Amino acid sequence: MSKLIETPFITLWLLILLFLSQCSFIITYSSSYNDSKSSSLRHCKFPAIFNFGDSNSDTGGLSAAFGQAGPPSGMTYFHHPAGRYSDGRLIIDFIAKKLGLEYLSAYLDSVGSNFSHGANFATAGSTIRAPNTTLRQAGGFSPFSLDVQFTQFNDFHRRSQLFRNKGGVYETVLPRAEYFSEALYTFDIGQNDLAGGYFRNLTIDQVKANVPDVLAQFKTIIKYVYDQGGRSFWIHNTGPVGCLPYIMDLPIARDAPLDKAGCKIPYNEVAMFFNRGLKETVAQLRKELNLAAITYVDVYSLKYSLFSQAKQHGFEEPLRACCGHGGKYNYNMHVGCGGKVKINGKEVLIAKPCENPSVRICWDGVHYTEAANKWIFDKIVDGSFSDPPIPLNMACHRNS
Ligand SMILES: *[C@@H]1O[C@H](CO)[C@@H](O)[C@H](O)[C@H]1NC(C)=O
Ligand SMILES: *[C@@H]1O[C@H](CO)[C@@H](O)[C@H](O)[C@H]1NC(C)=O
Ligand SMILES: *[C@@H]1O[C@H](CO)[C@@H](O)[C@H](O)[C@H]1NC(C)=O
Ligand SMILES: *[C@@H]1O[C@H](CO)[C@@H](O)[C@H](O)[C@H]1NC(C)=O
Repeated sequence: MSKLIETPFITLWLLILLFLSQCSFIITYSSSYNDSKSSSLRHCKFPAIFNFGDSNSDTGGLSAAFGQAGPPSGMTYFHHPAGRYSDGRLIIDFIAKKLGLEYLSAYLDSVGSNFSHGANFATAGSTIRAPNTTLRQAGGFSPFSLDVQFTQFNDFHRRSQLFRNKGGVYETVLPRAEYFSEALYTFDIGQNDLAGGYFRNLTIDQVKANVPDVLAQFKTIIKYVYDQGGRSFWIHNTGPVGCLPYIMDLPIARDAPLDKAGCKIPYNEVAMFFNRGLKETVAQLRKELNLAAITYVDVYSLKYSLFSQAKQHGFEEPLRACCGHGGKYNYNMHVGCGGKVKINGKEVLIAKPCENPSVRICWDGVHYTEAANKWIFDKIVDGSFSDPPIPLNMACHRNS
């Protein structure tokens, strides 16, 4: 009789012991894991950001290569042109600030740059796929496509360490070796793979047909970064280009049907098609890259919400460029923001900024104002537009 009682009793004890040891394992594991780090339990300490993208996150790359975007860009925040296609800061600037880092220097910028906390490989006009060089004259897009940005990153990774080892000033302007695995890798690219097609007069279906190849290329690059030690990825989807004047005003888009926000439906449909594919690509990458934490961030929904419910969000004239000239959208593809024309032999500024950029969404017909960028950032920072739904400062974790 006693044996019969004893057996389950012992089993229960074993279970309890097992349970307790598991618990203490979890407790010691998580506390030791956090001993060296700061107080807040699940926050990630990102010492650096490496950014890849287009004008949505270019902090001076294209300007360094081809000359500054002139005034009035930068008027709101920097009070001078600062290599950004906006009146002020971009989402990537707010990300850097939130993580306690200085604004990112553009990799291509050889003047005054400091890469100790990361580098920005984005340039305005960049595509994921390499541009078709025989057509370069038609698009006006950047030669620094994502494959080139990766090559630059690869080179930076290797050479920054060679120089850092020399000490002196190099030590203060180049990242530590371990930052390459601890950094947040951010991506905001794809818009120009779509827009570039429209500028070449491709049909909606032709642009759509390119999307799988574009995404395959994107996937390849993420894997390359992973192979270099990258572990935390923060990936923005692409925005509603069908709400932006530079697309809405194209000859091929003029007769496209409008939705109730006044945006051109087919162009936003292609963007959403791209985003569904991107989300699927991210899901595949999560399976293939065992140690990667990959966050997909739905900036599309927020940007669309800005255009469609501008008033509720405190914005005015959603579809009109703040800085531009003429037409339905205060946009003229031949006279961009800050553009001058010769009148009676005299240069006259005709594409002027609006009175109050802080209540406007679209800066120059192509890009967003600082106010819009800040509004979007404030919504994505806590993870409510992310998959998985984890905040920016926890984006080093594989699961929520
Ligand atoms: C512990 O905290 C540090 C620093 O805040 C963070 O980087 C790390 O991810 C945390 N670890 C766990 C298991 O949450
Ligand atoms: C580039 O464009 C030309 C002209 O349309 C075309 O013949 C060629 O196949 C394109 N090349 C690539 C790599 O897409
Ligand atoms: C570069 O930035 C880091 C971090 O912000 C700073 O500690 C360092 O002094 C800077 N170096 C130079 C040369 O400005
Ligand atoms: C696209 O079509 C418009 C007219 O519909 C034309 O003016 C323009 O040159 C074309 N662009 C290209 C790159 O073929």
